[in-house]
Amino acid sequence: MLNGKKVFALSAAVFLGGGLRVQAQQVLPPSSPTGIVKTVNGVTLNVQALRPDVLRVRIYPADRQPEDASWAMLPPSRLTRFPVTLEESGFRTPVLRVTISADGRLTVADLNGNILQQDAAPAAWDGGAFRVTKIKTGDDHFFGLGDKPGPLDRAGEAFVMWNSDTFGWQESTDPIYKSIPFFIQMRAGRALGVFLDNTYRTFFDFGRERDDRYTFSAPAGPLDYYLLYGPEPKHVLNTWAWLTGPTPLPPLWALGFQQSRYSYMSRKETEEVAARFRSGRIPADAIWLDIDFQQKNRPFTIDQDRFPGFADMVHTLSAEQFHLITITDLHVAYLPNQNYAPYDTGKAGDHFVKRNGQDYIGPVWPGPSVFPDFTQQQTRAWWGTLYKQLVADGVSGFWNDMNEPAVFVYPAKTMPGDVQHRIEEPGFATRTAAHTEIHNIYGMENSRATHDGVLALRPNERPFVMTRASFAGGQRYAVTWTGDNSSTWNHLRQTTPQLLNLGLSGFSLAGADVGGFAGSPPPDLLTRWLMLAAFQPIDRDHAVKGSRPHEPWADGPEQEAIRRRYIEERYKLMPYLYTTAEETSRDGLPIIRPLFVEFPHATADNHPLDLDAPGEFMFGPDLLVADSPSPEEVAPYEVHLPPGIWYNYWTGERLDRSAPIAARDNEIRETTAALPPIMVQPKLDELPIYVRAGAIVPMQPVTQSTSEVPNGLLTLRVYAPGPGASCSGEIYQDDGATYNFRHGAYLRQSFTCSIAADGALNVDVAKSEGNFTSWWKEIRVEVIGFAAKSASTESRAITPEKTSLGSAVTVPSKGGAMHITFQ
Ligand code: GLC
Repeated sequence: MLNGKKVFALSAAVFLGGGLRVQAQQVLPPSSPTGIVKTVNGVTLNVQALRPDVLRVRIYPADRQPEDASWAMLPPSRLTRFPVTLEESGFRTPVLRVTISADGRLTVADLNGNILQQDAAPAAWDGGAFRVTKIKTGDDHFFGLGDKPGPLDRAGEAFVMWNSDTFGWQESTDPIYKSIPFFIQMRAGRALGVFLDNTYRTFFDFGRERDDRYTFSAPAGPLDYYLLYGPEPKHVLNTWAWLTGPTPLPPLWALGFQQSRYSYMSRKETEEVAARFRSGRIPADAIWLDIDFQQKNRPFTIDQDRFPGFADMVHTLSAEQFHLITITDLHVAYLPNQNYAPYDTGKAGDHFVKRNGQDYIGPVWPGPSVFPDFTQQQTRAWWGTLYKQLVADGVSGFWNDMNEPAVFVYPAKTMPGDVQHRIEEPGFATRTAAHTEIHNIYGMENSRATHDGVLALRPNERPFVMTRASFAGGQRYAVTWTGDNSSTWNHLRQTTPQLLNLGLSGFSLAGADVGGFAGSPPPDLLTRWLMLAAFQPIDRDHAVKGSRPHEPWADGPEQEAIRRRYIEERYKLMPYLYTTAEETSRDGLPIIRPLFVEFPHATADNHPLDLDAPGEFMFGPDLLVADSPSPEEVAPYEVHLPPGIWYNYWTGERLDRSAPIAARDNEIRETTAALPPIMVQPKLDELPIYVRAGAIVPMQPVTQSTSEVPNGLLTLRVYAPGPGASCSGEIYQDDGATYNFRHGAYLRQSFTCSIAADGALNVDVAKSEGNFTSWWKEIRVEVIGFAAKSASTESRAITPEKTSLGSAVTVPSKGGAMHITFQ
């Protein structure tokens, strides 16, 4: 008979090995309870274990069991169950204990009795509306909730989920474009993920109304939430990816520098911008066309006067190693009998949403427009066919904007709540649904239709879609950006918490308009923005109509030189960045992450170190970027490094930041609490970056685009660990475009190092895995923080050369294993 452990092992293995290709789980025999169902005062609580560490809580008035379906989650994970051990007032799993009080309050604790979450009152119903109230302790911090502006920690704030077109949003604006009702609670170093699977306008209050409570509530829809236990934050992120799918591996070019503007107005201008990148030797991979490339802003048309020979332009750009991305907004111009195919074919197939039995018509960029019914499978399939010509012309990627949906009617700025959508989706009843239910998933389903449509047209190429609106799980279909930010220092500062919280919510690939969308950045602001964005997942410069030029060369040669240097650094780090993106596609860990994800116990009382260090974040597992928390200030600022040994990325300087102290829980732990922070004097052209000891970072020579084959060798920067400490790194490579990696066409090679008893530094390069042959024929192993006088491989002695950071040896490599000793 199948025991519970096997089910868990099976689902975990399927996830780790197969990414999105999760399979159906075996159904447990009814004799094994997987949770409890209890009715208290006419309200039913149904708490089920999906795994030992994942619970689903459904609460409903006993006579009104809601539909059991989800837009966000992968069905095989959502439907998995794990047997539990029943107890007097609840149950336990191998890691959690669940209790329900006589009046219907839920408590979830670990098996050591640490309370992870506890109802302050039974769930309250008022007609179809509900409210869940939890006890909040002074130690609680909250992260996630997508793109919402404000500080990284959501404690003390309240939020609304309602996808909104918010041109010129500010730090206090809520809601903005996305609704991701998922957050991670950190309590005394223990992480718990919470996902409210409800698509209506939901509300979250993290102690704003009452400091000792947090609540979530909705006016309608199911009270259906999931608890994802850590205790490590990384484990919660793995589980979130298991439930909703990780961010897939993007095409390599999407990690290059991208240039956009609202709008490049002609073929000539577009080609000139591309040429200027190449003549100025500023690396770049993509150019974007905004709405003005279309006739009268009509999606899926091209203004032939301003963009003559469109396909030829795409090929010319491609010959210069530029990928073209075009906007394709979802609103279809309402143009009956005018030979506008998107309208004609959409009308013929009955693909538009309705109000009072008629197609709903609302004004957007093209004027009166109709709106595809993306919750129907056949409508998404029809939408996908609209991409045929642009794909045939060679357009590489697509931009789904305005899909909250934005409608130019005020004050709602979207369609009325009584617009009718039709649902045709496996797991859901086939039915109509009011816009109030569909609104928050509309943008996600738009990006899903685009992703699936482009994939159908180019079946062996990874689609690149960028969406503005989305919902939980939307990372499966599209990358995202933070919409219409502004060209101010505060908006530059905002990019860090906003992109970090998006990563914690599943969107590992996210960016903010570099330089700010609304307004015109002064030269030093644009420079600082280009510097910081070189270490953000999506690096796209974009600007509103009428703003001054934003391209990297806009402010003369001195600024251009700084900006070029940072973009070049991104390209040098491309092997590291791509390897991190590939890891994300398997384990869900975001490309940029808060410090607490890597170092959850960095402080004596276990509070997230990020709260002391708001300008800092991890770029991948090993690099710590430490921008000023007030980037416009000229005064020195504090940098807080997690405990351990760190290296200055630019100079190789070694910084020992270990200080063992007694932590609050009576453990002796390494923290930096006993050390004063490092003071950094800001300089326009310096962005402090630190590397953790024991990292092995793969790097390549600068190229002008990711299509250019690097000329030279692969460098492995080995940052010497302390004695006995771990040291490792990895490189992943493939063709950067197709799915051939699924059939073995990839290269993965791992590296380790250690300090031997005699003080030698041993570096081991494992034999490469996979059958993809990459560009290097030699590897340069550069050790930092270790004074090497001599070096040897198994067969010969080599004299290390001095480098600006340490010392290095160069060895031939055909992918085999090798061992190098530095003495
Ligand atoms: C929206 C987008 C912006 C775009 C503009 C025109 O404001 O957020 O990025 O440039 O529409 O399409």
